[in-house]
Amino acid sequence: MSRYWTLDDIDWGAFRADKVDQRLLATIKAAALVEANAPDYVTYLCNVFRGDEALCGSVRQWGDEEVQHGRALARWASLADPSYDLDEALLRFRTGYRQVPLDSSESTRGSRSGELFARCVVESGTTSFYSAMQDATDEPVLRQIARNIAADEVRHYKLFRSYLDAYEARGMGITRLARLKILGDRIGEVDDDEFAFAYYAANVAPVSDAPYDRETCSLAYETGAYGIYRRAHLEKGVRMMLRAVGFGSGSAFVGIAVRLAWRLMRYRQKKLVKLAAA
Ligand SMILES: [Fe+2]
Ligand SMILES: [Fe+2]
Repeated sequence: MSRYWTLDDIDWGAFRADKVDQRLLATIKAAALVEANAPDYVTYLCNVFRGDEALCGSVRQWGDEEVQHGRALARWASLADPSYDLDEALLRFRTGYRQVPLDSSESTRGSRSGELFARCVVESGTTSFYSAMQDATDEPVLRQIARNIAADEVRHYKLFRSYLDAYEARGMGITRLARLKILGDRIGEVDDDEFAFAYYAANVAPVSDAPYDRETCSLAYETGAYGIYRRAHLEKGVRMMLRAVGFGSGSAFVGIAVRLAWRLMRYRQKKLVKLAAA
């Protein structure tokens, strides 16, 4: 449970079915699964940081908050579509998607600092996503949920940043170049199966026998997820990521990166609209 809010703080009675966007609903059904799957990441991170009890304690609290994000989104999705069943969809997702290296005691990023930096990148992305969601919807309950989640994601970013800085202060930091390499790798992984398979488990499998098709599911997920971004949301995420690399907001590189990222996002958004219409 989050220390900052619970599901009881949401005014569920304010729900307006006529304000639900079906495409965003499908994306949220999938996002709820990825959030609710956080316990696997807690296991992985506590293996990687074995011996660092303070960090493992923070990670357990973090995991509880991520699960709460999943539960809040799922409850909202059930209001919009009573046939949506989080536990059933989550079981399907966890059975089909097993990519978190639960047995590894080494970070997939090569070092503990690399792992902490990668977590900063993820939390920047989720901050940006839920901020976009809050602004994109007129549905009052979803606005409350997205606002609360976005605030948690900013806190998560600060949490992992503080541990990253502490490792650096103890002489276990990584270079800017190494951070940029991890950033590139992590952005590339956005296209992996995690969200596409979550989309399948939450939206396709409950209503058809169609086998999982990564391309179709990925396209459907991205159409809902990327479609809600405006420049300010993307810029917020990019700035957070680059701050964790070591680039302050006054850096010329940050301005260039923001412009480039927005161009790429606009290109992707337009392409998704075309593909969805085809
Ligand atoms: Fe989250
Ligand atoms: Fe988070």
